Parts: sequence; C-alpha cells; structure tokens
Amino acid sequence: METKDLRISGSRLRKSLEEMAAIGATPGGGVQRLTLSDEDKVARDLFVKWLRELDLDVTIDDMGNIFGRRAGADNRLAPVMSGSHIDSQPKGGRFDGILGVMGPLEVLRTLHENKVETHRPIDIVDWTNEEGSRFAPAMVASGVWAGALEKEWAYNRTDINGKRFEDELIRIGYKGEIPCRQHPLHAYFEYHIEQGPILERKGKLIGAPKGILCLHWYDIYLEGTANQVGPTPMKGRNDALCAAAEMILKVNQLPTKMGGDMVATVGEIQNYPNSRNIIPDKVHFTVDIRSWDDDLAIAAWEDVRKAFEEIAGQRGCPIRIEETWRVAHSPFDERLVQRVLQSAENLGYPALHMVSGAGHDASYMNQITSTAMIFVPSIGGRSHVEVENTTWEDCEAGANVLLQCMLASANEK
Ligand code: GLV
Ligand code: MN
Ligand code: MN
Repeated sequence: METKDLRISGSRLRKSLEEMAAIGATPGGGVQRLTLSDEDKVARDLFVKWLRELDLDVTIDDMGNIFGRRAGADNRLAPVMSGSHIDSQPKGGRFDGILGVMGPLEVLRTLHENKVETHRPIDIVDWTNEEGSRFAPAMVASGVWAGALEKEWAYNRTDINGKRFEDELIRIGYKGEIPCRQHPLHAYFEYHIEQGPILERKGKLIGAPKGILCLHWYDIYLEGTANQVGPTPMKGRNDALCAAAEMILKVNQLPTKMGGDMVATVGEIQNYPNSRNIIPDKVHFTVDIRSWDDDLAIAAWEDVRKAFEEIAGQRGCPIRIEETWRVAHSPFDERLVQRVLQSAENLGYPALHMVSGAGHDASYMNQITSTAMIFVPSIGGRSHVEVENTTWEDCEAGANVLLQCMLASANEK
C-alpha cells in the first residue's frame, strides 16, 4: 500500500481516549488530571506501557517529559516530533491535550502494524504541566526543554497548598535521569481540539492555525484591614476584595479600550479569611492578557497596572504585582501550515486557515523548530469544561491529517 492511502484506526483511537478519560473522570463527564497528581501518574504509567508495546525507545527527562522514539532509516537525521499534554484543568474535558498525545500514538501504531519505515526517526512526547492551573505558568516543561525557561525556577513553583513542583515530580516517580534539554528536530506537529467556536460556525473540519496569540500572566496580591463587618462603619474601610472587584472590571474593559484582537481575563481569585462577617484583608487574583500583537498586550498591561495602583491607593490597600510569565505570539512555519491544509484537502476534509487563541506547547517548540498544529472542532466551542466534546469521526479525521503530515516530514531528506 502506498503511504498516501494509509489510515489510522478511529476505533482504536477512541478506545485509547476513553481509557484515558476514565483516569480522573468527574461526575459531570469531564476529567480532573491535575499536573503531577496521582491521576497524572496513573495516566503517565499507561502511556509509557503503550509506548513500550511499540518497542519505542522510551526516555523521561528531569522535568518529567516523556518521549518515545521510533527509529527511521537514517537515525543520524533530526526526528519529526509530535505530542501534547496529559494533564488537565481542574474541571477539564476529555480531549484537551490528551487528543494530541493519543493522536500521534495512533499514528505510531498504524506505522508499526503496517511495517512502514520512515526516512527520519519519529519522536512522540507528553509535555509536563501544559495547563499551568496547578503550578503557574503553563507550558513550563516544553519551555525549559526549548531553553526559554529556567529549570530551577520551574522546580520552585508552588501550588495553592505550598507544594513544590520538583517535590511533586519526585513523589509521582517522574523526575527522570536525563537533563531536560532540546535535541535537534526537523519539525514539530501538535494535534489539538480547537477549544473555540470558529470551525463549527464555518462548517470546517480541520483548522490549520497560522500561529498562537501571545500569553501574558500576572499575579496580584492586595492587603486590606480585617474587621468585624457589623460595628465597622463603611467609611474608612480598607476592603481588599472591593479593591479587587474594581480592578477585575478594569481588566474586562481592556480589550474594548485597546482594540485589536485582545482578550483579557481574571480567572482565579483567593479571598481571605473568606468569612461573610469579616472584611477581607488579603486577596490574590490572576490576570491573563492575549493578543497577536505583543506590543498592544504590553501597552494594555501598562494601562491597567496604572489603574490598579490608583484603585489600591484610593482604597488604602497596599498592592504587590508579580509579572509571572510572558510568551510572545508564535507565527508558525507557513510551509508546514500549508502542509496541514494540503493534507486535509487530499483527504477531502474542508479546512480553515485560522489563529489559535489557546496556548500550546507548540509556542515554545516554534522557537526552536518548524512547527504547525492541526485543529478539529469543539462542539459548541466549549473547552476547559466538563462538557468539552469533539465527535469521534472528527478525532479520526484529524489523526489522519496528522499521519499524512508526519509521513511527509519524516520522509524528507
Ligand atoms: C492553555 O490551556 C491556555 O490557557 O490556553
Ligand atoms: Mn491543551
Ligand atoms: Mn488547556
């Protein structure tokens, strides 16, 4: 059989996705597989078992990234890599990340059973902590691998209970021996659900993003004066939660104020002591700003930062601001993006050139190698929620596009 006629098995892909969805399954039909949790470990163990069944060379680095290498005809050549992440949001869906790990696994199974030899080796990868919801920031381990983030800094990030990233990595047995450091790559493909409504609205099956928006994350800490709510007059209070409330609305108003394609969100807040009859004296909240235009996103931050300081002054609530993380917008390799569009067309799938508003490990991979992504529709445009869904047929179609893209790149001289 010619490799252009090769197809993955949709039913096998579905079975793997369903087995993974059972690990950390939530009553609402989603998953909770927080990074470096017990559920993450169980899913990793299963993934490693599946890699070994394909006789891949399995390695784990000291950021917990899991790699499987399939030899090519000429193993001196740089491999083609594909992967994504096994971790999930606290109330996440059954497709975000894991589709991009089970997809290339299905590609490798297809090559294995059809005894297809590629010219170049192929690497599959599970990147540790893509989500950044337990340990900020996101995409941390691909960032270290690409040389953009410091390993020691990543090791010292803590979760809401003060647990350190490195300690949790050791606890689940995934601090590997190999230093987390890039090796040469020929190309990187990441397969993912769209996580937005565009493909569905436009009636397209495959998305080929031209790149990913920039992601800027900030952490804000406010201090107020705690007191009994009954006897304390309204005048003269230093209510940290009220200061935060005003600030949150400023963030929400930023995209309208700044224009462009910006989105800005406060998604996480902790309020202390969080009692209905105590004036709050401590608040932490996060800010997420994204745009294709990095300068506009920074100008927006400067603007809102000034507003935060004014509000903090007016309310007598000292403010501390952490500029936690920035990753620049990522314009992908247009030649590879065209390969995704062409592969979709060859398979008869309507495809769309678009933009990714969601962050992906592909952002960091794009800094070191030719990168492209393959998107399939998210039903109702919903993601990072338990009802996140994509049809099995669409999962299969995207994996066939991935297969053809990986074959084309892996057979390049
Ligand atoms: C990654 O999940 C993101 O925040 O887009
Ligand atoms: Mn993801
Ligand atoms: Mn996600």
